[in-house]
Amino acid sequence: MKYKKLFEPIKIGNVELKNRIIFPPVSTNFASADGHLTDKFIKHYARRANGGAALIIVENVCIDYPGGKKGAFEPRIDSYDFLSDWEILTKEIHKQGALASLELAHPGYKDRGVDSLSEKEILAISEKYAKAAEIAKDAGFDMVEVQGAHGLLVNQFLSPLTNHRDDRWGKPIEFAVKVRKRIAERCGWDLPVTIRLAVEDLSQGGIGITEGKALALSLSSGAYNMIQADFGLGPKEKRLEPMAYPEGWRAYLAEAIRPLPVPVAAVGVIRNPETALSILEKQADIVALGRTLIADPDWTNKVKEGKEHLIRKCIGCSECIKARHDEDAAIRCGVNPNVGNEEDIMKAKHKKIVAVVGCGPAGLEATRIAAERGHEVHLFCKEFGGQLNIASVPPGKEKIRWLMEYYRNALQGCGNITAHHGEYAKESIMAIDPDGVIMATGAKPFVPFPIVEGIVYVYDEVLRGTVKFENKIIVVAGGGFVGCETANFLAGNNEITIVEMLNEILPGVETLTRNYLVNELREKGAKVMTKSKLVEIKKGEVVLENTGNGHMEILKCDGIVVATGGKPSIPFAIGDRAHYVVGDAKEVRKIADAVREGYMAAKQL
Ligand SMILES: Cc1cc2nc3c(=O)[nH]c(=O)nc-3n(C[C@H](O)[C@H](O)[C@H](O)COP(=O)(O)O)c2cc1C
Ligand code: SF4
Repeated sequence: MKYKKLFEPIKIGNVELKNRIIFPPVSTNFASADGHLTDKFIKHYARRANGGAALIIVENVCIDYPGGKKGAFEPRIDSYDFLSDWEILTKEIHKQGALASLELAHPGYKDRGVDSLSEKEILAISEKYAKAAEIAKDAGFDMVEVQGAHGLLVNQFLSPLTNHRDDRWGKPIEFAVKVRKRIAERCGWDLPVTIRLAVEDLSQGGIGITEGKALALSLSSGAYNMIQADFGLGPKEKRLEPMAYPEGWRAYLAEAIRPLPVPVAAVGVIRNPETALSILEKQADIVALGRTLIADPDWTNKVKEGKEHLIRKCIGCSECIKARHDEDAAIRCGVNPNVGNEEDIMKAKHKKIVAVVGCGPAGLEATRIAAERGHEVHLFCKEFGGQLNIASVPPGKEKIRWLMEYYRNALQGCGNITAHHGEYAKESIMAIDPDGVIMATGAKPFVPFPIVEGIVYVYDEVLRGTVKFENKIIVVAGGGFVGCETANFLAGNNEITIVEMLNEILPGVETLTRNYLVNELREKGAKVMTKSKLVEIKKGEVVLENTGNGHMEILKCDGIVVATGGKPSIPFAIGDRAHYVVGDAKEVRKIADAVREGYMAAKQL
């Protein structure tokens, strides 16, 4: 078997993992505000365990309430009042055949660095780690993990940037070792304790690879039983990577600290089994798949069963990060509508004839679910993938094609789907006499001014390559996601100015993705003009009005590319047939909305 190495057992301390795949901590915001676990929380983790990963490390948990609470919906384990919640969770994880661990995390106290903590306070905090570990052990956890990365408290002790103490706690590993020792004293050395380690801070004067290697060696010698190689205090973008980051790009951290007396895990954008295998062959002993298992909890079993073509890969759309970090809301997934809503797809009581009109993400997801429910599905398809075809064109957006591949593979071989190719025509849809129709016909670009031939172009022509520019001066009208991605596609070979009426570009886009794209545009020399309205288009120039002060400005240009959004496109009314309008055909939004609505509509039919 090609991926045999992924399925070799490995020991962490005295506990054996059935394979090399673990689920790292991914905060969900599924706990309740009082720190108790909810049904949603438990189902989420049980579902990940059910998919075949050997070890589930549950998200960062509050060990010191209220001073060390991080996030409004962080679960708590600072007191035995929470024991029974965790008992239920570990039972469910074990029932699904996986081992359970829990990430003990402490952010440090607000506005106080580690330099200001007294000896008494430091000892009291180390005790809180140990107490939490004891509750975890009593609740049935097989091991615990200490969060020693991401700029949190242990990382602050480890890093020369934040630890300037001249007492014993000034020795970088002292606190981490103390925590490990106190856990062992309360729980016994039998309970394995792993650490998520800041191998590199990625900040001037912080932990560098040489220091990270030395820390890993000291912490693994007799203290921690496995090390997850991660980043420290540096930019958040590097540990919650936007879409453009290549697969497995930071496995070098794990490679750098090996060999060690304990296993080393690599984490970060490991999406394909080939990547996981290559990392296990050269760089690490274990692979940690975070968003990978959010998008498809069955990743492990699919690889084991030779069905890797059926994996729904995380495309890095950052919808989960937007929910968790920008909105403090429960996580959701752009490609997996079951996140936060784990349920089995039930066969329909009555088999129906279902017409799905459109084969973008909404139509394809609706087709998948309607077929799984046993309906006779007719998919009317003009262009397989719809908008995904052009959304995947700009630099760093290639992963979007994975979603198209997934649907192509998942729908192939479903005996109850008939595809009808060509333009949408009401007669051909009515000819199958459908019991229900799902309109997923997408959107058309919205062009707020007349197309002047040879001067004004629309973004989709550019992304499809039917219009090409080289060494031209181009104005991109519209600073939303599509406008900025189109500008990024054109920049480098052309002189680009993005013109946006609002005060800022990329409103509503997840922060790290937004910053990444803004930086890309800046590096390629693209200019941005906000509060600017295009009032006149002439050959060779455009006239702009500043919406703040009314000043006019003339900009020389060879062409204008319009990217001012889209408008729903519904080619005909369906009459009195039961029907649902989903995705961009309902309202122009994101892939996540399209997939979710396609799913919901097919579930209702
Ligand atoms: C929504 C979200 C929440 C996360 N929460 C945590 C957390 O609670 N603790 C932690 O150490 N890392 C957390 N991470 C980081 C992941 O464990 C993982 O290191 C990161 O997502 C990169 O791996 P991936 O590309 O496989 O997702 C989170 C990541 C995401 C996307
Ligand atoms: S929301 Fe997007 S980034 Fe997050 S797991 Fe799903 S596909 Fe990946």
